Amino acid sequence: MLLQALGLSHRFGEREALAGVDVTVRPGVLTGLLGPNGAGKTTLMRVVLGIIEPDAGQVLLDGRPVAFADRQRWGYMPQERGLYPQMPAGRQLVYLARLHGLSPAEAEARARALLAELGLGERWAERTERLSGGLQQRLQLGAALVHDPDVIVLDEPFAGLDPVAVEELSQSLRERVRAGRTVVLSSHQLDLVQDLCEEIVMIDHGRTVLTGRVDRLRASSGRRQLRLGLAPGTPRDWLTAFPAVEVVADQADALRLDLPPGTDALAVLDAARAAGSVIDFGLDLPTLSQLFLAAVGDAVPGGAGPDA
Ligand SMILES: Nc1ncnc2c1ncn2[C@@H]1O[C@H](COP(=O)(O)OP(=O)(O)OP(=O)(O)O)[C@@H](O)[C@H]1O
Ligand SMILES: [Mg+2]
Repeated sequence: MLLQALGLSHRFGEREALAGVDVTVRPGVLTGLLGPNGAGKTTLMRVVLGIIEPDAGQVLLDGRPVAFADRQRWGYMPQERGLYPQMPAGRQLVYLARLHGLSPAEAEARARALLAELGLGERWAERTERLSGGLQQRLQLGAALVHDPDVIVLDEPFAGLDPVAVEELSQSLRERVRAGRTVVLSSHQLDLVQDLCEEIVMIDHGRTVLTGRVDRLRASSGRRQLRLGLAPGTPRDWLTAFPAVEVVADQADALRLDLPPGTDALAVLDAARAAGSVIDFGLDLPTLSQLFLAAVGDAVPGGAGPDA
């Protein structure tokens, strides 16, 4: 199903949390809502979920206004987690599945399959409060997925997770995306999701900063970074031949250079090789956080927001 948020605006008193943001989430295209702390991601998701009434704008599903019944078929993982601490992990999911109308047998089968998928198969009978923070987060994702929703909205699903858990949960999400579900997730860790999300909407102070396919956004700036692994003692004077090239990092045995659009990367590499021994090299596209910084100038992704 095609999920669209069009022209969303919302104020909390004097504070403008959303100032006309558009987000389109297509089925089968994992979409990231990115931005630093306080950008408006949670507010936007709450508006999409119908928890907050926007001051302006609308939320459409397959081109028509979202109805209450539509949202029954959605799964939402809120940023503030809401599990019952005393309830055993398995029973928690069975309970939620039953609320969604599954039979007792279906609910139990779904809960067992999900716990196994999320690496919690051994924790069926364990009280939720005894699970580590990361394991509770996996369970919270299970809670959002237990009724096999058509539309999946996840607010910071990766915050606080270790890299293995990030990869495992990413795998679960990719499978659902491949099955044609509509999936949007938010993250303030811009680079964490750049290999996972196909499309992104990046917001800051309630406004859209960048939007589109991640690969095109990263390629379209024309900027690249050249990494050079150098034999110690390799001089740097050859860099003066490339005044537009900026040194991002200079260590004893490594250089990282920012190449503006149009720079002949091979000419730079050749100059380095002529000056000394190049042991290793690589050409990288800018990361999403570098694009964010370039777009907004002063803000720090993942750092302090406007309220700090
Ligand atoms: N209930 C509220 N009352 C007043 N202001 C609020 C409320 N909820 C959010 N805000 C403000 O709206 C702005 C956007 O907040 P929001 O929680 O949507 O940001 P976010 O992008 O989700 O940030 P984070 O990465 O920290 O989760 C912030 O300035 C925040 O302080
Ligand atoms: Mg948030």
